[in-house]
Amino acid sequence: MHSKRKPVIAGNWKMFNTTGEAVELVQALIPLTAHLPEREIVICPPFTALSTVKPLLAGSNIKLGAQNVHWEEKGAYTGEISPAMLKDAGCEYIIIGHSERRQYFAETDENVNRKLKATLAVKLIPIICVGESLSEREAGITSTVISRQIKIGLADLSPEQATSIIIAYEPIWAIGTGRTATAGDANAICAFIRLTITGMLGTSIADSMRIQYGGSVKPDNIDELISSSDIDGALVGGASLKATDFARIAAFTATTAK
Ligand code: 13P
Repeated sequence: MHSKRKPVIAGNWKMFNTTGEAVELVQALIPLTAHLPEREIVICPPFTALSTVKPLLAGSNIKLGAQNVHWEEKGAYTGEISPAMLKDAGCEYIIIGHSERRQYFAETDENVNRKLKATLAVKLIPIICVGESLSEREAGITSTVISRQIKIGLADLSPEQATSIIIAYEPIWAIGTGRTATAGDANAICAFIRLTITGMLGTSIADSMRIQYGGSVKPDNIDELISSSDIDGALVGGASLKATDFARIAAFTATTAK
């Protein structure tokens, strides 16, 4: 984490929580995070809970995000939801290109790029997910994979368009497995991502872009992860479903001087 970059902790609820359960979780979370105004805290409930949760967040320290989006503005796309609809529901952030969408729903780097542009067009903040699988890591092609995901996913953007983007580095083998990347390994890839962004969009954009780590982030490993120079936050899955755990993660202590 760098002092120029405001830490951003986001909870990806995935396909969990009915509206009633979402309300309960949010009501528990609000008082637990009220003392953390210097952090950006985001929750990404399922689509069905967005409009119910939004008014509860008024005056709180928590912002709302969605887990996916379609790239078209409107049209005959059964089952899809547009960026403007998410904005209308009160979202400020959209997770794009999560590995589960790439794996189970055939999301490609090209589609990530379309979704990114559509999200920026309505001035929402994209959280772009990248990360290698276990077999890719073992084959020694982690940087090739990440570089492709970044170069195609963020293609054809001006530096102005790119200013709000957040990247989430989520190694697939660390998601939901309890197996976290070491802070050193995660930081090295986040630094590599920043270097790749520097090549595409220049130093000033790369230096100010927030890069999160995601994959089995828990209360007991957040402090070390976020103390690393190039990790500016976390994208949290399982632990974001428990108010005390997510609040503790948001209340991290960074142990290195920033
Ligand atoms: P876990 O924190 O459950 O490993 O999930 C990480 C993730 O996929 C967040 O988007």
